[in-house]
Amino acid sequence: MNRNPHRLWGGRFTEPPAEAMRRFHDSFPFDRRLYAHDIRGSIAYARALARAGLLTSEEAEQIVAGLAQVREEFEQGTFVPASEDEDIHTAVERRLHELIGEVAGKLHTGRSRNDQVATDTRLYLLEEAIPTVEAGLRELQAALVQQAQAHPQALMPGYTHLQRAQPLLFAHWLLSHFWPLQRDRERLADCRRRTAVLPLGSGALAGTPFPIDREALAQELGFRAVSPNSLDAVADRDYIAEFLFVAALIGVHLSRLAEDLILFSTAEFGFVTLADAYSTGSSLMPQKKNPDSLELTRGKSGRLLGDLVTLLAVLKGTPSGYNKDFQEDKEPLFDAVETLALTLPVVAGAVATMTVHEERMAAALDEAMLATDLADYLVEKGLPFRQAHQIVGQVVREAAETGVPLSQLPLACYRAIHPAFAADLYRVFDAARSVARRRAVGGTAPEAVREQIRQAEALLASEMPAPE
Ligand code: ARG
Repeated sequence: MNRNPHRLWGGRFTEPPAEAMRRFHDSFPFDRRLYAHDIRGSIAYARALARAGLLTSEEAEQIVAGLAQVREEFEQGTFVPASEDEDIHTAVERRLHELIGEVAGKLHTGRSRNDQVATDTRLYLLEEAIPTVEAGLRELQAALVQQAQAHPQALMPGYTHLQRAQPLLFAHWLLSHFWPLQRDRERLADCRRRTAVLPLGSGALAGTPFPIDREALAQELGFRAVSPNSLDAVADRDYIAEFLFVAALIGVHLSRLAEDLILFSTAEFGFVTLADAYSTGSSLMPQKKNPDSLELTRGKSGRLLGDLVTLLAVLKGTPSGYNKDFQEDKEPLFDAVETLALTLPVVAGAVATMTVHEERMAAALDEAMLATDLADYLVEKGLPFRQAHQIVGQVVREAAETGVPLSQLPLACYRAIHPAFAADLYRVFDAARSVARRRAVGGTAPEAVREQIRQAEALLASEMPAPE
């Protein structure tokens, strides 16, 4: 009994699915967002069937026109789902059948939902997910570069272990958050390369018995290659795992930037003030202005990590070929894309609009942060660095014990500790000088940072590498 010809299976079944089973099993509520990709894949497939002589060109044109109408209904919001629409593939085919009749039944020749869903998901990544995330990354990178250009001279304390370490240019700190995002964009390009491999034409698992020109199909759909093994092609979800890893790592990068800015915006630091537009208030304490945009960014990174772990746990231990477990790949994927689509513009906006307090950053510098420069001074006088480190340690202790800052300690004190110290040692106590000396590539000197900005701008202007 197959009361409903538009279920894609059912010939051998005597009972419809239980209501609980249907609710459990149906993916239409979340995979309907693949409609444009599903229809695009089907239009290309109808043409491939015609080229293979399995459809007349009239039939193919009927199918293509019908599919275009189904797409229009989704776009206009007039598509009416039916109870048997278990997934987007079923829904589109059911509606196509209503629109054009029996010829709709020829579209699935040699095709399975297994190669179809893998094709749809890859198209979604290539055409929607990756471009969205890449544009969001670029916007944030641009905001970082723009702030770096607006504050080319500002000095700030640099930290290790969250303890004051050495002076930095504020622009150097900003750009330290540019490069991880650049690597993320490279990772996306790499992920896109492996995503752009076409599974369609693999059938359910064993390949298609029909003379489908898979290369032509790949070209038409914008894939750079065809999958070399049908059994692998229907079960491969590596490209989703790779994307989710990149998304999780972007989450980690955003979280670290957010954490820095949350600290820097406290009264204790006071290095930056977030714009009101990216802050919120307290319902109880009238004076509060909270960096919610950044805290939520930090929180969302947990969710992105979860999406990756969810998928890996779903895939682990599944036997070869397609398994229904794989339907669980979509919600974490969609969640990660939506999360980043929401988060990236907020972080970019918060960075672009924050007020920078150069004087507060300068005031947070202290002379002890120049102790390394003092050791370098002794190195220039010919001492081995290890010994210089030891000697400056004694100077720092002496200064701490007598309560005198390093720059006020008399020359006699210095010379009593080591005779290599001379009157020119006091030149060391200048944070701008310390920064300016670090002019080797990648250092914090203004000229090295200018070079970084130049590189960053060139990377922002260049397109993402195309899939080879
Ligand atoms: N909704 C399914 C999924 O997302 C489509 C593939 C169904 N394949 C099957 N053999 N039942 O994985």
